[in-house]
Amino acid sequence: MKELKACIFDLDGVIVDTAVHHYKAWKRLANSLGFDFTEEQNEQLKGVSRVRSLEIILAIGGYSATATEQEKMAAQKNDWYLELIGQMTPEDILPGAKEFVEACKAEGIKTAIGSASKNTLTILSKIGLDKHFDAIVDGNKVTKAKPDPEVFLNAAKELNVDASVCVVFEDAIAGVEAANNAGMRCVGIGQPAVLTEANAVVSSLAEITLSKVKYL
Ligand code: G6P
Ligand code: MG
Repeated sequence: MKELKACIFDLDGVIVDTAVHHYKAWKRLANSLGFDFTEEQNEQLKGVSRVRSLEIILAIGGYSATATEQEKMAAQKNDWYLELIGQMTPEDILPGAKEFVEACKAEGIKTAIGSASKNTLTILSKIGLDKHFDAIVDGNKVTKAKPDPEVFLNAAKELNVDASVCVVFEDAIAGVEAANNAGMRCVGIGQPAVLTEANAVVSSLAEITLSKVKYL
């Protein structure tokens, strides 16, 4: 690639292990509506916005609700989720994430968060990484969900760099697509069989070095 100037990280599933908390809160909501929601079904929600996640869950349960009811449900889920993430500490940072971000800083490579979550700032301060990034673009700043590239293009804009010198780190299929749609390279965090459109796939940020990323 052209000279690497910026790394843009998705939050949930890349920097921090929040998937289990999202799952527990959605399952609690589903159970309160009288149906179950499995861990396997939860895979469909990775990278998906809160509103869209609720629509998927209601479809799974065959449950119809008015717009007002849906707003209440999403708010209830988020209250339960906030209760769960209230317990988070720096120990919940995923392997290698903090070290990788610090390595970027040491080499003068800019860093940003590009996440669909409206809870991004809360989570970053819980895990002690709120001062680690040069830009934070979260669910409060974007109007179009991944795979739309808006979140990553806005991050590049805030960092004042061109898309062609950015690499995105993503654990969701929709997120990898968003990176591709932004014209950015992408490192998938997860399984190669799932993240087939990524330029490289590793199981965590502990498994890749900045020098490898530069040659993607
Ligand atoms: C990330 C997660 C999704 C979550 C979304 C919105 O993309 O992978 O599971 O639904 O953010 O998160 P929020 O914290 O705003 O409900
Ligand atoms: Mg994610």
